[in-house]
Amino acid sequence: MKFPKVTVVGAGQVGATAAFALLTKNIADVVMVDVAEGLPQGKALDMMHSRSVERFGPRVMGTNDYADTAGSDIVVVTAGLPRKPGMTRDDLLAANSAIVRSVFEKAYAASPDAIFICVTNPLDVMVYLARQVTGLPSERIFGMGGVLDSARFAFAISEKLGVSVGDVEAMACGAHGDAMVPLPAHSFVGGERLTDILPAEEIDALVSRTTFGGAEVVALLKTGSAFYAPAISVVRMVEAILDDTGDTLPSCVYLDGQYGISDVYMSVPATLGRAGVIAIPELELSSADLAALRASAATIAEALDSLGLRG
Ligand code: APR
Repeated sequence: MKFPKVTVVGAGQVGATAAFALLTKNIADVVMVDVAEGLPQGKALDMMHSRSVERFGPRVMGTNDYADTAGSDIVVVTAGLPRKPGMTRDDLLAANSAIVRSVFEKAYAASPDAIFICVTNPLDVMVYLARQVTGLPSERIFGMGGVLDSARFAFAISEKLGVSVGDVEAMACGAHGDAMVPLPAHSFVGGERLTDILPAEEIDALVSRTTFGGAEVVALLKTGSAFYAPAISVVRMVEAILDDTGDTLPSCVYLDGQYGISDVYMSVPATLGRAGVIAIPELELSSADLAALRASAATIAEALDSLGLRG
């Protein structure tokens, strides 16, 4: 069977975890590329050793050469430094900007027809930068933030109420960071609106747990940031694109007037398919939620302006 080709740039915690899930879920052949010599090759060999046990069909290779990534259907970028305890995502800005610039230049040159998904933080700024570097239409370059943030919200809700995660549909939008906008009025438990189930102060605690879920993991790990949930979240997006499902997943997409927000990348529900972002259907937000979303966008715009990225 011929599988689609997915390149994962950065064979670290997030990249390698995503690569392994792409294999074991029989989604795609994977090329892992990294600056570290031996790291992607070693991890790829280790994964291939598991192939006869797990009996997955796709293959993985590790490389330091972008020529091996040529003709990819999707490129997932996880290259960069992870957060250390006490660091905000914004502390990563300077270091990861340089990495993202060089990675996207090379990956785009090798696969000009691919769809690009950025995972590197600070996400909303990195995706904007990546689009500038490549000049790609925004449908083909976006980021993974909202799927993870919504998953963390779903977890917090299911733990609080003691219900199955399968019964929870949670929605978190906005910046992938402290200015995140979890949306209780668009989150449901067994079809019932969260705002009809819990009092406001209990919802506020869940919102806070969601917003600082990444930091909670960083504080525990001490040597890096979350990777299982980020990896499986980007795999969910890859699956939706390759299977052309038309699933609407909160994704870090370019906003061009939606919700009255322009010229930033930020997570909102986006319909994904083989062409990338097919549509950005707008949620009907209360005026308070809309104001929160716009305030969140303003924090991203400020970061972009401070870097001189916007014209
Ligand atoms: N080109 C390719 N790979 C690079 C480059 C580069 N220019 N610079 C760094 N890398 C690689 C590193 O060698 C490392 O293997 O990126 C990998 C990053 O892996 P980790 O340090 O394990 O970081 P990880 O936890 O995977 O996080 C990666 O994803 O969620 C975000 O905030 C997180 O920005 C971070 C990124």
